[in-house]
Order: sequence, then structure tokens, then C-alpha cells
Amino acid sequence: MLINKPSDIKSSEITPESVYRQRRLFMKSVAAGVAMLASPSLLAIPDYSKPNDRHYPGPDWLQQMIRQGSDERVFATDEPMTPYEDVIGHNNFYEFGIGKRDPLEHAQDFRTDPWKVEISGEVNKPGHYTLEDILKPHTLEERIYRLRCVEAWSMVIPWIGFSLGDLLKRFEPTGNARYVEFVTLHDPEQMPGQRTSFSTIKWPYVEGLRMDEAMHPLTIMAVGVYGDALPPQNGAPLRLVVPWKYGFKSIKSIVAIRFHEQMPDTSWNLAAPNEYGFYANVNPQVDHPRWSQATERRLPSPFFNPNRIDTQLFNGYAEEVASLYQGMDLRQWF
Ligand code: MTE
Repeated sequence: MLINKPSDIKSSEITPESVYRQRRLFMKSVAAGVAMLASPSLLAIPDYSKPNDRHYPGPDWLQQMIRQGSDERVFATDEPMTPYEDVIGHNNFYEFGIGKRDPLEHAQDFRTDPWKVEISGEVNKPGHYTLEDILKPHTLEERIYRLRCVEAWSMVIPWIGFSLGDLLKRFEPTGNARYVEFVTLHDPEQMPGQRTSFSTIKWPYVEGLRMDEAMHPLTIMAVGVYGDALPPQNGAPLRLVVPWKYGFKSIKSIVAIRFHEQMPDTSWNLAAPNEYGFYANVNPQVDHPRWSQATERRLPSPFFNPNRIDTQLFNGYAEEVASLYQGMDLRQWF
């Protein structure tokens, strides 16, 4: 893999802060010796400008962790990042409505502190853990990932999070734990989408991963974005990010994690089993029954300049994850 050295970057293209961050990253990648984390253009990315006003500070201890985490960029892409306004203003979070701006408009009073996560099933350490219990033992870091929605729009997002695998190991899964299920909060009083009787989703929203997918180093629990705590519409205070799968696998506002021997149900598979499979790996060759998945509109995507690009197998992360599906027919296991 090609690693651009810091000397390859023109000083006119970068700010002093990004030089600092990229140097740290270079040393970190080399020291770690983790080829996967040294993506081709890792060191050539320009820095983004963070919003000046912090909208979503979260509790002090979390904000402090996030600030440290945003200095630790360990995975990146050379594609330009999606503007902050789109990342927080164009969302799918059906609990707050089905329109793309509904989550921004209806989630602002969502209470995410205090927050608890219930761990159960095939583990030696089940229990109720506070957000602090969940986060404190981990070091946060920044991962700039593509997010490809099944509806064929996509973004490039600087998440702040930590390895899901490191978290799951702490609960000591038993030998029977072959799958892990995630559950979103069910609180119709706070979530207007859960009060309608016409919903396609059976609440609470549930998702699942095979254990090896959950343990994969690319899979993270995110608590921040663009250097700040997650806004409610992006899944505060804790959400999954699985970058090689369609966005619906990245479940938001998680309150329970359950370890299973059998494949768990997932919300979209229950809603339309012929349209949404359990695996949901991004695949330009396997169309959705109602539309093509060959291309995507990278946001921002104005009407007269939709910014359409080719979709990549596994959302561009094939080198890292294709081996997980060796021998599987990806048309059958969509
Ligand atoms: N999680 C819950 N609980 N409810 C949802 O409706 N939508 C999913 C996913 N996670 C959803 C969810 C879909 S379809 C997508 S594309 C991503 O969240 C969008 O994440 P973003 O709003 O942070 O871009």
C-alpha cells in the first residue's frame, strides 16, 4: 500500500493543525504496523474546518474525551468530507419522522443524559452499564468513513468513536455468541415517529451483525462527529458505524446489546424481507428490487449538479472486509 509521506503534501494545501495531526498519524500508523489503518491517501487529506460554535457539547467528561479523540485520526479517505450542515441536516432516523429534515427538526429536545445500555444473552458479564461505564476504558479516535445509504445517497463523515470489538470483549461473550443484536430506545413520548400507527418499522429499531463483522477493526461505536458530541439526529449518545454496509445497519441511540447463537431479526428485514437482507453489504452489482445500486449521489447533491459517482463493492472497503464473505453468494446473502 502506498503511504504518502508528509513531505509529499504541499504546504499551501494544509493548515498547521493538519500538519501536526498528520505527523502524529504517520508516526502512529508506522508504530502500530497496522497495514489496514494506513489507507492509500491517509496523509494527503486536507484538514476540515470545524464549526465554530459547539451545538452538542454533551456532558463535560464526554466532551473532554471527544476533544482528545479528534486529535487521533486513524482512518481516512482522500475524498472531500461532506459539509457539516448536510451531516447534521440530512438524516434517516425514523423515530423522529421519515423526512430527511425531520430528525433535525424533531430531535433537538431528545434526552441522552443519563443513558444506560443493557448487555444480555451469551455473555459472562451481563448487566446495565451507564454511558460512562461503556466509554471510560476506551480511547476515542477519529475515523473518516464513507456512509452509503441504501437510498443511493452517500456522505464522507469524520466520526469520533472506538472499536466495537474492544467493547464487546469486555463483556466476555461465551462460545455460543455467533451474532450480536443492537436495540434503539423505545420511547414514544420523546420519539414522535414511534407514535404513528402507519410506521413501516416495528419498534424498537433493531439491527444485528455476525460476530466476526462486529469484531472487525473497521466497525466502531461512534459518540461524536466533526469534533463534537453526536447531535441527537445522528444517533446520540451512542451509535454503530459499519462503513462497508448500507447505512441502515448503523443503528442509532443504542440502549441494548444482546449476544445470540441464532441470527437475530433486523428492522428492515422484518419490514421488507425481499428488499433488505441481514448482511446489507454495499454492492453495486446487486440492485435493490426497485432501483439500481450501481451509482450514488454524494452529498451535497444539488438538482442541476447531482454529483453522481460509481458505487464501490463493500463501499470501497473490499480490501479490508471481502475475506469475511469468502465462498458466500452475495446475491443470495444480500
Ligand atoms: N437507526 C435508527 N434507530 N433509526 C433509523 O431510522 N436509519 C438508518 C441508520 N440508523 C435509522 C438508524 C439509516 S437508513 C441510515 S442511512 C443511517 O442511520 C443514517 O445515519 P445519519 O443520519 O447519521 O447519516
